[in-house]
Amino acid sequence: MSENPLKDITGTSGKELLNTKITICVTGSVAAIQAPEIARELMRRGADVYAVLSESACKLINPRLMEWATGNPVVTELTGQTEHVQLAGEWSGKSNLILIAPATANTIGKIASGIDDTTVTTVATTALGSGIPILIAPSMHQSMYRHPVVLENIRKLKSLGVEFLDPQIVEGKAKIVQTSAIVKAVIQRLHRRDLLGVNFLITAGPTQEYIDPIRIVTNKSSGKMGAAIAREAARRGATTNLILGPADVETPPQARTIRVETSEEMLKAVKEELQNNQCQVFIGSAAVADYKPSTFHRTKIPTRGNPKITIELEATPKIIDCVKKTSPKTCLVAFKAEHGLSNSELIEKAREVLKSSGADLAVANHIGVEGPGFCAEDNEVYFIDRKGSVTHIPLTSKEDIARQLLDYLVDKLGIKGL
Ligand SMILES: Cc1cc2nc3c(=O)[nH]c(=O)nc-3n(C[C@H](O)[C@H](O)[C@H](O)COP(=O)(O)O)c2cc1C
Repeated sequence: MSENPLKDITGTSGKELLNTKITICVTGSVAAIQAPEIARELMRRGADVYAVLSESACKLINPRLMEWATGNPVVTELTGQTEHVQLAGEWSGKSNLILIAPATANTIGKIASGIDDTTVTTVATTALGSGIPILIAPSMHQSMYRHPVVLENIRKLKSLGVEFLDPQIVEGKAKIVQTSAIVKAVIQRLHRRDLLGVNFLITAGPTQEYIDPIRIVTNKSSGKMGAAIAREAARRGATTNLILGPADVETPPQARTIRVETSEEMLKAVKEELQNNQCQVFIGSAAVADYKPSTFHRTKIPTRGNPKITIELEATPKIIDCVKKTSPKTCLVAFKAEHGLSNSELIEKAREVLKSSGADLAVANHIGVEGPGFCAEDNEVYFIDRKGSVTHIPLTSKEDIARQLLDYLVDKLGIKGL
């Protein structure tokens, strides 16, 4: 029996959220009327729910309603108690998840720009810094939702790992999704530990091939795709090992990262990992330099007296070709990036990679001088498996692609955690 009669519904519909603290942030949208129902449903699944209301939200619903709904004090202003730190700062009592429902165009824009001048945006900024998962359920007039800057803000936040629950377009409005979909997403976000104990080896970033001690041959890979996969795998409980080329990218603290520079070092590290650790999944998302100089000049090649030089390049070994040879049972995911091809030609190239490397899945994408792909935050890819199935993932953040890729491994290729 709960000590607080307002909380006597806790866990009556399920125990999935037992022992979790969830903060629901409510902003100034008419859909704020759904907030008490969302809070109550989360409690029925076991959560302890805290509400934060923006000033605009307070004009639409009375904070007392949320106090009743959650059985907890409601934050409507930031005081000396530093409520944003209590709810989302880095300490043992922090929330397990921040849900912004409904989220206005205004609040989404501010969070995407790092502005925190309301209760809700300050909680969100603090949560982003503390690594607390954030789920956003937007709600607004369709004309607002069509605004390119609003869409850009959503893309930006997705690339930071914020998950969005896409609104339903009804009667000219981008309406907040149903409460049941929000509760399901919260449970999934907190409980997707479906890769617990699975050993992942991921390569990421470019490699650098030395001409002399100063000059290199390389490519523009940012390493963001591989880092996003490593973050998602670690979050879902996988034992994550990341072999990272020279890229300035944030790596997940839960992943073991091995830094390498050249294709030779990357190949050596991959072989050692495959030989020494039981690796169930290998994801080759690194853009290994295709060519390296045939000879390495031990000293810097002088420019004076050398107005023209010729550098002979030779192909580097294909790292993905060694994976099945070294560890036949490892599930191999090969990335294939091509320039200037049609979609069907790209998919055909990916099928060739499946054949030549023995990969179980290819992830193919177009790369260009501009647009998505190499250095960008977003990408558009195709998953091609050995059964011939092709799945198109339209332009989305690399975080989202990482999530969908791991879902594919679990749902379609049978990778299972403990
Ligand atoms: C009755 C009413 C309904 C509103 N509904 C929405 C909405 O659904 N979505 C939205 O983005 N803004 C909506 N607005 C505008 C926001 O309240 C306004 O942009 C406000 O500055 C948002 O502040 P906040 O994001 O701090 O809550 C509405 C305003 C009013 C008066």
